[in-house]
Amino acid sequence: MSFLKLFRKLYIKSTDFTHSYQGKSQKLVSFYKIWSYCYDLSVNLDPAFGREMKKMVGLTVKPGDITLDIGCGTGISTFYAAEIADKVMGIDLSADMIHKLEQKISRRKIENIEVITGSFPEALPQNIKFDSIISSFTIVHFTPEQRKNVYKQIYDLLLSDGRLGLFSAQGEIASSFETKGEIANNLELAGFNKIEIDDVSDIYRIVTAEK
Ligand SMILES: C[S@@+](CC[C@H](N)C(=O)[O-])C[C@H]1O[C@@H](n2cnc3c(N)ncnc32)[C@H](O)[C@@H]1O
Repeated sequence: MSFLKLFRKLYIKSTDFTHSYQGKSQKLVSFYKIWSYCYDLSVNLDPAFGREMKKMVGLTVKPGDITLDIGCGTGISTFYAAEIADKVMGIDLSADMIHKLEQKISRRKIENIEVITGSFPEALPQNIKFDSIISSFTIVHFTPEQRKNVYKQIYDLLLSDGRLGLFSAQGEIASSFETKGEIANNLELAGFNKIEIDDVSDIYRIVTAEK
């Protein structure tokens, strides 16, 4: 096993500890208050993280889209989406992660990203719909029971023929993430079609689906 593969596996397995905060919003906010300072640095230690995430965004987001990024954090996937879409809305529970994103937005003078601080889906405006929805390493923060409902809420937020793209880790390696079977089952139950699950760069998983 190469050093990078071992590093990725150990890192992702270690996150099972922090994922004990599943569904506990206040604990997540406290956790990301601290983590926001080194989040970008830590994920960028693995070049595959950004590369594979960008692939997911490219498979999901199309020119002209209004896109939602659920759990946008410091905005790594939000910026990839903003290069393609007309407009991207990022929503995140953590004001500290959003603050890092807002600093980057003003530094880069980006005009097509709007951010919302609050919990998905409650903090979204009423009656809003999206052409595409992306989410990276966030579904893991919901409990396995909540996830079924979250996918249904995502389905309802998509316009007809809308697209979903997920980027995450493989549940077969770190148990807080979903296994292939669990994702396929949850997405089918929510009503999604054309579900594609692709394992990439040792530990990552790209999932795409259509309404
Ligand atoms: C591991 S970070 C991922 C950030 C970014 N998507 C990325 O991949 O770099 C997970 C993010 O999900 C957010 N989050 C967790 N539960 C959420 C919820 N119910 N609504 C909105 N954001 C949530 C956290 O605050 C955190 O910023």
